[in-house]
Amino acid sequence: CGIVGYAGARPALGIVLDGLRRLEYRGYDSAGVAIVCDGELLTEKKAGKLANLEKVLSERAAENPAGCGASPIGIGDGTTGIGHTRWATHGGPTDRNAHPHLSPDGRVAVIHNGIIENFAKLRTELEDQGVTFSSDTDTECAAHLLSAALTELRAAGQPDGPQLLTAAMRVVCQRLEGAFTLLAVDSAIPGAVVGARRNSPLVVGRGVGENYLASDVAAFIEHTREAVELGQDQIVLITSDSIEITDFDGQPASGKDFHIDWDSSAAEKGGYDWFMLKEIAEQPEAVADTLLGRLTETGEIMLDEVRLSDQDLRDVDKVFIVACGTSYHAGMVAKYAIEHWTRIPCEVELASEFRYRDPVLDRSTLIVVISQSGETMDTLMALRHAKDQKARVLAICNTNGSTIPRESDAVLYTHGGPEIAVASTKAFLTQLVACYLIGLHLAQVRGIKFADEVAAVVEQLHQVPEKLRDLLGRIEPVRELARELSAETTILFIGRHVGYPVALEGALKLKELAYMHAEGFAAGELKHGPISLIDQNTPVICIVPSPVGRGMLHDKVVSNIQEVRARGARTIVIAEEGDESVVRYADHLIYVPRTPTLLAPLVTAVPLQVLAAEIAAARGHDVDQPRNLAKSVTVE
Ligand code: G6P
Repeated sequence: CGIVGYAGARPALGIVLDGLRRLEYRGYDSAGVAIVCDGELLTEKKAGKLANLEKVLSERAAENPAGCGASPIGIGDGTTGIGHTRWATHGGPTDRNAHPHLSPDGRVAVIHNGIIENFAKLRTELEDQGVTFSSDTDTECAAHLLSAALTELRAAGQPDGPQLLTAAMRVVCQRLEGAFTLLAVDSAIPGAVVGARRNSPLVVGRGVGENYLASDVAAFIEHTREAVELGQDQIVLITSDSIEITDFDGQPASGKDFHIDWDSSAAEKGGYDWFMLKEIAEQPEAVADTLLGRLTETGEIMLDEVRLSDQDLRDVDKVFIVACGTSYHAGMVAKYAIEHWTRIPCEVELASEFRYRDPVLDRSTLIVVISQSGETMDTLMALRHAKDQKARVLAICNTNGSTIPRESDAVLYTHGGPEIAVASTKAFLTQLVACYLIGLHLAQVRGIKFADEVAAVVEQLHQVPEKLRDLLGRIEPVRELARELSAETTILFIGRHVGYPVALEGALKLKELAYMHAEGFAAGELKHGPISLIDQNTPVICIVPSPVGRGMLHDKVVSNIQEVRARGARTIVIAEEGDESVVRYADHLIYVPRTPTLLAPLVTAVPLQVLAAEIAAARGHDVDQPRNLAKSVTVE
């Protein structure tokens, strides 16, 4: 979910809605706002995308042009407000389950991201006290608890004022289990928004005469670049001119100030139909930026925040890469590179699986967690599971100030810039670059002999942005092919070695965006079962490795292509420029620039991204916000 809070001097509604628009990628099952205006709480919420809410707001404005404070939109020009865009967990995506949730007297509004795990117990307790619930959400418990805490504190003589909100929020947090970011406003306490966080993201934007709260900085980047990262289990109270942070026991606490160097225009579509197409086009720069400044003059590879000594890295005897979704596929590629360059055994695992088993870890295990958002709950919990067993954790992350890098021992940031489309593209490529850098760094620190090879790989990495520009410059035939393929029901992908995770990633993209049956296979495994899926004209996308260096691998994939063709498949072959051997086995041939085998995913993944985006568009889907998904999944 995405949440926004504002306290300042300007009308809050527009600012909150703009923030929600920028956070909508975090969930779009419903949206809602609560604005405090002249001692009243004005709320509106609606199932579906933000546009539905905006429509209702403008209808409301038309019916009630005077509104509170004579606002043209009828919901008031109150200068304090909160807003929410939801990815449904408890309770379906309906109007009644949309946030904000209100206290029975309508004075208090609460929005929430996360899952309150003890909500059933709390709900029964509240119902026994006579509270009637008006939604199926876990969040509503927090609204009732907050309202009760405010009433009790007032009865005990605490004066109305911002501090009262903090005190009441503290009472609520002590009752909640699970993961939550909560924001709340009270119509009797104008000018203040209170927030709390446990295991769920919340950042503060520090403005001049105004302050912001949000799930991530994208929400307020056009207003301020100064932000404060909150720690775990903290409560923050913002007014127009103050930011007060305390812990759940009421002790003063501090956040970490940071400056956001993203350009706010980076979060705009810039002439493209979809953010995803813009982000695909940005990949040459994103890769170049991730490489920038990573090498010292003496050729050493540098990480960003290293709370690990070289000796720690020399002691590593096993690497585990843990991630979800597309980031997991980047990890699968990394395994090939890390084992090849360092000779350290490397395993890759889905965070949601790793978390609930007993992996054999100790102080000499290096866990590499990969997360674009830095907030994925499965990955965060896997990280903590590893740390509990004393393993050391190195994070690859795109989001400064997020939780995963903060809790890790070392960080390598991918400088991909904001990725808005739900389906990951430039984040994937920059994660691959980061994985290669980590593999090379480990090899260097451990004194593995082949300094020349490290230098050669770095040189090849530096050539990738230019290769990507070249590839993207002649991508039109892939778009045409996409239109041809858009009526298919099944598309299969095959690859070997690093081409295998690329096949999985290509299939994932199609599933996510085109809602099509798509599967990726290790090309050699096809004959052990999946080949029976192939029918007359089933499209099979084949990722062919370079014939240079690992000729055997190349030839095996070419044999696999022949096997599928023999069974009627229509083959779409992705091969290295100049590879003539595949021409006669390809119904469609897509050439990618020559790239050494281990680095090839940096180019072979690109046509698959374009294919998925264009097929989805041809099928009439929302490319940036596919159904049922969210970009940052902050629940387990
Ligand atoms: C969600 C997104 C995926 C993403 C995955 C991991 O499921 O829809 O596109 O790959 O989360 O996200 P992370 O931010 O941890 O890389």
